[in-house]
Amino acid sequence: MSEIILRTTNLGKHYKDRWAARDINLEVHRGDVFGFLGPNGAGKSTSIRMILSLIKPTTGTVELFGHDLFTQRERALHNVAGIVEKPDFYLYLSAYRNMQIAGSLTLGTTPENIKIMETLETVGLAERALDKVKTFSHGMKQRLGIAQALLCDPLLIMLDEPTNGLDPQGMKEVRELITKLTNDRGITVFLSSHLLNEVEQVATRMAIINKGKMIVQGSVEELLKTNANKILIHAEPVRRAKSVVEKMEYVGGVAQTEDGIVAQIDPKHVPAVVKELVAAKCKVYSIQPKHSLEEYFLEKTTES
Ligand SMILES: Nc1ncnc2c1ncn2[C@@H]1O[C@H](COP(=O)(O)OP(=O)(O)OP(=O)(O)O)[C@@H](O)[C@H]1O
Ligand SMILES: [Mg+2]
Repeated sequence: MSEIILRTTNLGKHYKDRWAARDINLEVHRGDVFGFLGPNGAGKSTSIRMILSLIKPTTGTVELFGHDLFTQRERALHNVAGIVEKPDFYLYLSAYRNMQIAGSLTLGTTPENIKIMETLETVGLAERALDKVKTFSHGMKQRLGIAQALLCDPLLIMLDEPTNGLDPQGMKEVRELITKLTNDRGITVFLSSHLLNEVEQVATRMAIINKGKMIVQGSVEELLKTNANKILIHAEPVRRAKSVVEKMEYVGGVAQTEDGIVAQIDPKHVPAVVKELVAAKCKVYSIQPKHSLEEYFLEKTTES
């Protein structure tokens, strides 16, 4: 088992009348691209802010690289960089100058020319180094933000919705950059997103959060498997069909949805299910597998 470099325990933030995030128990391993998935208002930014020590939690603890964030703040955050919501720039200065300024703020000294150029190269902006940031596209600004975060040679980088507002090409560039950071530099990347297919494409592990609460966490592959063997049955009358299916011993998690009856059935038992339905005088219109992570996400975010 690889090392856990970020662990939150019962992390929560309460505002006036509501919990923005509650009982967030994350485990991020070294080398993960960890997707933190949730719809708008789920509590993603709030959780990231607490982890980066930008706001104070109401409950719980954060441990980074084995150091407690509240008692050993500096050591805990030593190898961590992050961007919450949107990176900030001096728009009338060049990308290069912005890198110098960002570097001196985080490192305390102006980074060397070679370091700046190498980092801009990594994010694909070396050729635009001397252009003013105001001439940059949204995607380029996002990548410049990541470049700034890279200046301190982080081992963990926290990105809050890094592809928000980007077009498909811009999103792809950011995803490729994230993969490159992990593969080539061994940087662990934690990113939040409200887009499931994005997380599915880039992340190795993920957590789903909704209405401030964490719903599930695990490897993307495992979570996909959890939803394997889900079958969608379209049969009528629906109520009768549902009660027939519910009674069968090898069928689990039966639920009625807008699309029909959803149940967990090993494909080898499908013929028996059909047989029972027909015997109960149900009309079976279709039976199909239903296993995308998208379904899982929607199911988990609507049921909680
Ligand atoms: N400073 C604050 N004061 C009061 N409520 C807040 C504050 N910050 C966030 N909230 C509330 O906490 C909840 C979670 O907000 P948060 O910004 O963490 O969600 P999010 O998952 O990042 O959403 P989005 O996808 O829209 O960025 C929301 O209901 C929000 O209104
Ligand atoms: Mg947010």
